[in-house]
Amino acid sequence: MPKYLPEPFRIKVVEPIQLINQAEREKALKAAGYNVFGLRAQDVYIDLMTDSGTGAMSQAQWSAMMSGDESYAGARSFYRLKEVMEDIFGFKHFVPTHQGRAAENILAAVLLKAGQFVPSNMHFDTTEGNILARGGVPTNLVKQVAYEPQTVVDFKGDMDTDALKAWIEEKGPANIPFGMMTITNNAGGGQPVSLANLRAVSEIYRSYNIPFFIDACRYAENAYFIKLREPGYADKTPLEIAREIFALADGATMSAKKDGMVNIGGFLATNDDKLFERVRAELILREGFPTYGGLAGRDLDALAVGLRDGLQEDYLAYRLAQTAYAADRIRQAGMPLIEPTGGHAIYLDAAGLLPHLSREQLPGQALSVALYQYGGIRAVEMGTIAFGQLVDGQWKFPPLELVRLAIPRRTYTQSHFDYVAEVIGEIKADAGKIRGMKMTYAPELLRHFTAQFEYV
Ligand code: F0G
Repeated sequence: MPKYLPEPFRIKVVEPIQLINQAEREKALKAAGYNVFGLRAQDVYIDLMTDSGTGAMSQAQWSAMMSGDESYAGARSFYRLKEVMEDIFGFKHFVPTHQGRAAENILAAVLLKAGQFVPSNMHFDTTEGNILARGGVPTNLVKQVAYEPQTVVDFKGDMDTDALKAWIEEKGPANIPFGMMTITNNAGGGQPVSLANLRAVSEIYRSYNIPFFIDACRYAENAYFIKLREPGYADKTPLEIAREIFALADGATMSAKKDGMVNIGGFLATNDDKLFERVRAELILREGFPTYGGLAGRDLDALAVGLRDGLQEDYLAYRLAQTAYAADRIRQAGMPLIEPTGGHAIYLDAAGLLPHLSREQLPGQALSVALYQYGGIRAVEMGTIAFGQLVDGQWKFPPLELVRLAIPRRTYTQSHFDYVAEVIGEIKADAGKIRGMKMTYAPELLRHFTAQFEYV
């Protein structure tokens, strides 16, 4: 899908961005300790750090915000959101949360006991963190092909259902308080999951009485991949496909900062009355009253409209085509990528681009620094710094050394991605000159946000 579909919108409000010069970029990098998380956003030209909460809202969302009802309890805004939630997801109950990880925290708090196991195709790192924080054991059972960067299959996010069955038998269903699936699989490259696989996983969980929760962050992109790729779905709307997905589950967590098309928000949904009572109690303690859950009334209205925006077929066609177009240009510039391209992001193979650097010389970190240095582009290292383990001064390396370019929704245009590809072409031409890095400071937890670096 390399053809660029024109944006199905025109621009009414603009946010100026500027490319500061190379000397200023060097200075900014130095001040940030060569960690792009330390940069000021005003010094970034094209910000592809995340697609989470960084998109543009529509005029319908902005005008809905003016109708926000800020009542503490029973706000109109909540009931407008409830109607949309029932229409799309169809769960019996839901509570708003301030973002995805808050929903994960509450789910883990009410369901998980220390020593218990939670399977998924692949947990995102906050989900994993919330399970670990309660003494649980998160387990990834995605199909093996997900770990082969160059293998192209339609649904690389699918769960290995044989492995799931064997694993449930081994651990014992009583030790598995709930099971999950992440759609699309962010940690595995934004890869979609097929409906056939979701159906099979749902049947397995149900046969063992294990409640099934979907991590729904990018469910609309996943639904559109199903429409494009799965036999029998070409004539269905994304909404119909979404309904079919969620009918297979007992509940969901969602960071609405992705396919909810909002800058902040999330939810936890469940069909279970008893569980909902406990969720509500926990929510009141941590987030707020159940009809606002840590959000303003206007945020609930933006989400009610955003969920509908995110399922529009012309938007989704453009969204996936934009990612595919950008990947195609970047591939043509000579950059090795994780294949196939996912929905929300492009994953650059830093080790493949910089073979003269050893793993100790942190090629992922070096590439994220080079992207900023060469073109003011901000991306995230997803290699040794994000996922490696440092044991007695020795690195244990993760399988891949990646840098993620995540694409904010409705924010950048074709020319921005042409520019990104040109900068990557310049880096490729200079690849032999890109210097390795070493870490000079690291905090104990969540290293990649605040670690500091120097050139070796
Ligand atoms: N689940 C998935 C699959 C995610 O990608 C994220 C966030 C979360 C849960 C947590 O949601 O941030 O609202 O608390 N992903 C962002 C990213 C941060 O950049 O990929 P949150």
